[in-house]
Amino acid sequence: MAVAALRPATRARFTCAECGAAYPKWEGRCQACEAWNSLVEDPAGSRLTPAQPGVAGTVHSLAKAAAAPERLGSGFVEVDRVLGAGIVPGSVVLLGGDPGVGKSTLALQIAARIAGGASLYCSGEESAEQVALRARRIGSAAGVELLVETDLDTIVATVEAAHPRLAVVDSVQTVYDAAVSGVAGSPAQVRAAVARLVATAKRSGVAVLLVGHVTKEGAIAGPRTLEHMVDVVLYLEGDRLGDQRLLRGVKNRFGSTGELGLLAMDAGGMADMAAGGRAFLDGPVATLPGSARTVTCDGLRPLAVEMQALTMRSPYGLPRRTASGFELNRLHVLLAVLEKRARVAVGDHDVFLNAAGGIRVDDPAADLAVALAIAGSRLDRTLSASCAVIGEVGLGGEVRRVGRLDARVAEAAAAGFDLVITPEQQARPPAGVSCRSVATLGEAVRLLA
Ligand code: TYD
Ligand code: MG
Repeated sequence: MAVAALRPATRARFTCAECGAAYPKWEGRCQACEAWNSLVEDPAGSRLTPAQPGVAGTVHSLAKAAAAPERLGSGFVEVDRVLGAGIVPGSVVLLGGDPGVGKSTLALQIAARIAGGASLYCSGEESAEQVALRARRIGSAAGVELLVETDLDTIVATVEAAHPRLAVVDSVQTVYDAAVSGVAGSPAQVRAAVARLVATAKRSGVAVLLVGHVTKEGAIAGPRTLEHMVDVVLYLEGDRLGDQRLLRGVKNRFGSTGELGLLAMDAGGMADMAAGGRAFLDGPVATLPGSARTVTCDGLRPLAVEMQALTMRSPYGLPRRTASGFELNRLHVLLAVLEKRARVAVGDHDVFLNAAGGIRVDDPAADLAVALAIAGSRLDRTLSASCAVIGEVGLGGEVRRVGRLDARVAEAAAAGFDLVITPEQQARPPAGVSCRSVATLGEAVRLLA
């Protein structure tokens, strides 16, 4: 009793409706999120209730529950790859991404294609006409029922009554819970909405796909704060001007993260990228000096890409270097190594580097291809079109080992390369491809014809 009597002085009495920060007294502005007039008083005594003795919960045998869960195929090979074979009934998947990247389009297509049919699409952002227009663009959406609603109670009640295989909520930022203060899209509202929808999914066994925006300034209102509440988090990325879209698995309670799905957006909606890991390679073209192909890994997924370099004697004292799709500082380092360790004189040359196909390459295993593309352009020598180059380049000019070499060589073989230059000898390369190991960058440069 004495303890309870002491508590009120030390416990927070006001909470910010925007970010949830707690304060002992009322203030005009929240110091945490800088929102004005957002502090609300906690209901009297809500934090002071003494603990009640609990009732024992039901325990389960893990061995009995070990059966692999059923999966609902999404109708996309690339989406299923990221999900790990499909959506698990009763699970909640969060699909995040920048505005306009194609989240609503992909969500509607998944709803239309979901294995077993019958899905419910709850739209809080667009009118029925707008969704119908999109449905017409993507072709058939016959099995999809539409609910245009932002009220959380109505959405939950409709999901429970209709009991679809999949319910899409587009977007969590528009859903409003009347029992919670704050405007729709505020962290408190979004958290409350996701918590209710997760509970609904678990209780009813309906799979739920939530669409969420990532805003430039705010991880606060974005799906980031929700990542721990849901089962699977996917991010759709891509350049709005290009047609390529990357679907990245950030969290997955039913599969591996680090998977990458390759999709393409055209006038008829989203589609699996036809060539998969070869999508960034423009077929076997006659190789020009300054081109080198490599297999990078984005997460777990190997991708064949072409690195292109152009070097020209600089007309000015200070040579220009630009890199697109590759880190500029890394390019400077590789140029220094080329000059000092491999005796390729690039110091007085402008260097322009490009990762073809608009992809961004952050993988150190692309170093060797970048260095050989530059050396090829500078020396006017080529690398065979059917040759891929894999390896990290160290400051001493040594070619260093890279992760997932087996997977990379396998992808190179699948992409039609017949020779792979690697940091270490492959004991058993896949059929149709031979490996040649190089120890130094100088040795690799001498392979240019
Ligand atoms: P949308 O799915 O509305 O994006 P988000 O929900 O992530 O904000 O789609 C945005 C863009 O996609 C829009 O500018 C038009 C384009 N689009 C296509 O290119 N093809 C299509 O079939 C559809 C439906 C949209
Ligand atoms: Mg949308």
